[in-house]
Amino acid sequence: MTAPLTLPATTVPDPAEAPGLRWGVIAPGGIARNFIGTMHAATASRLVAVCSRSLERAQVFAGDFESDAGCAHAYANIDEFLAHEGLEAVYVASPHAQHFALAKKVLEAGIPVVIEKPMTLNADQARELFALGREKGAYVQEAMWSCFMPHYDVIRQVIESGVIGEVTAVIADHCQYFPFDPEHRLYAPELGGGALLDLGVYPLAFAHWAAGSPKQVHATGTLTATGVDEMVSISGLSGRTVYAVQTGLGARSSVEAHVLGTRGKIDVDSWFFMPNSFTVTQFEAGDNGEDVTERFTYEDSLPYALPEHPDGGNYGMAFEIAEAARNIRAGKLESQRWGERDTLAVLEVMDRVREIVGVRYPGEEN
Ligand SMILES: NC(=O)c1ccc[n+]([C@@H]2O[C@H](COP(=O)([O-])OP(=O)(O)OC[C@H]3O[C@@H](n4cnc5c(N)ncnc54)[C@H](OP(=O)(O)O)[C@@H]3O)[C@@H](O)[C@H]2O)c1
Repeated sequence: MTAPLTLPATTVPDPAEAPGLRWGVIAPGGIARNFIGTMHAATASRLVAVCSRSLERAQVFAGDFESDAGCAHAYANIDEFLAHEGLEAVYVASPHAQHFALAKKVLEAGIPVVIEKPMTLNADQARELFALGREKGAYVQEAMWSCFMPHYDVIRQVIESGVIGEVTAVIADHCQYFPFDPEHRLYAPELGGGALLDLGVYPLAFAHWAAGSPKQVHATGTLTATGVDEMVSISGLSGRTVYAVQTGLGARSSVEAHVLGTRGKIDVDSWFFMPNSFTVTQFEAGDNGEDVTERFTYEDSLPYALPEHPDGGNYGMAFEIAEAARNIRAGKLESQRWGERDTLAVLEVMDRVREIVGVRYPGEEN
């Protein structure tokens, strides 16, 4: 008879209890709306300044997110925005190709920064930003939101506990179908387009989370008419763990992640990188043994309640916001959950994959 499985509790604290910081946002587009909406609904942090290329767009955004801290100040000039009194953290939410230059400005002003994923187009740019953060004593965090969530934390604890034995394989996919549109940022090389940086970053981050950074990377891929990656298959080897990652703009996939071990497996529900649930199965060897399974359910397994989202969406970004707020208040320069080593490891894989499939962005010619 096999003993029942007990899953560990999450070590991710309640986001509502993190310190409240005064935030600014640069590039108030689609994802910035989620981020600030989540911040106001699920954390004590508040928006105090908005910077857009258009003053009118900044004003509209500020008005839409008026809070108990008042209406955020709108700017169309980044230097004036960065001089806003009392700004404690800045969130950069532009398309990827602008992350580096915008975050560099923020760090040069000595202000902590959280940068949307992927943090930069390539590993060299990210390395430069982390170094600048250290020089200026300013916190730097990639907004790889999944890696701050409780289910990822518990998955890592399960792996480290040895419950599924030695991890020998990780499989993850993230493909979405986007009809070809050369104007859309996903198809535009000048905006860092392609499946890999936007979608593939999630399964690659998951593989890194579960198995560590790979020593070998292989890839095959197709390109769009605009010269960015369309469908990409990646295989990697990290220690004795193989991983297989699929990403693409030309099909829809299940968006699942699986960790396979010598004694069991972890199957994460679709979409694996959203706040979600997973099943752990432990295999029982021998004739009479039965597999044992246990579920981590996102709704019931947390030691705190999260506010309900009015539109059936989720407040998963609350964890990355709270992580940044706690670390910035504590005077840290990076996150222990997803820090420089992690961001760079994934960007280095993406650099290698782009080299293999033949994607270079403007400015990367040398
Ligand atoms: N964490 C997640 O779940 C998630 C989901 C989607 C996207 N993302 C990431 O978030 C980033 C933005 O994605 P999005 O879908 O929100 O993009 P978006 O709506 O196309 O752009 C965001 C904002 O960036 C500014 N912008 C657009 N083009 C620009 C340019 N050429 N130079 C400077 N600023 C420009 C615009 O604001 P103004 O013109 O007002 O300045 C725009 O509203 C990407 O890096 C993406 O990977 C993350």
